[in-house]
Amino acid sequence: MPERLKPLLEANRQWAAEMERKRPGFFTRLAQQQNPRYMWIGCADSRVPANEITGLDPGEVFVHRNVANVVVHSDLNALSTIQFAVEHLKVEHIIVVGHYGCAGVRAAMRGMRIGLADNWLRHVQDVRLRHRKRLEHLPAQAQEDALCEMNVIEQVGNVALSTVVQDCWARGQPLALHGWVYAVTDGLLKDLGVTMKAPEHVIPVFGAAIKRYPRPPAATAGSEDDSTFGPGVVPAP
Ligand code: CO
Repeated sequence: MPERLKPLLEANRQWAAEMERKRPGFFTRLAQQQNPRYMWIGCADSRVPANEITGLDPGEVFVHRNVANVVVHSDLNALSTIQFAVEHLKVEHIIVVGHYGCAGVRAAMRGMRIGLADNWLRHVQDVRLRHRKRLEHLPAQAQEDALCEMNVIEQVGNVALSTVVQDCWARGQPLALHGWVYAVTDGLLKDLGVTMKAPEHVIPVFGAAIKRYPRPPAATAGSEDDSTFGPGVVPAP
């Protein structure tokens, strides 16, 4: 056992003892069944731990994390996790949570090459390309922050359009999708106003959320109609 890992195991023993002291039978009950109401889809970033920042205990939030909180329609890992959460655990809320200062989003915005992840972050670059008229006129930091938020909005749209969620809504199972962004600088979460609870919400809620990032007047003239917006729709270059 490397010396550096010993404190982790010691802290674990103290934590488990403290939990059992404060709430006798906690682990025995948890061992029977997990019954989370929430699913969290977040960035793998070590500064954004789902349970801690929402005050939730083990058993209360089902978590999927990857680089830059991306939900791709062909990603069997994410889709399987969403399916298990929706069909077996029957979570009532799926929350996509991005964060400001996301290294993945920054790399995508600047076109930095960082390795294998470039192919993954291509999805975030696609978000930037899709909404470039709403981003490019902003100062660099504001542009990066807006892309962190827009990436969340796009991923909520992707979750909504997944077969798992479409089927869930079609059979009348209650499920709400949400998009939040977290600030590592003050520990606070912000709701991005992209909550969707039914198939008919997807296009109008997505469109309204994206329109909160206005294009400069010159770019608005003669450009495509906003009402055609939907998740994943790429306007002509
Ligand atoms: Co990140």
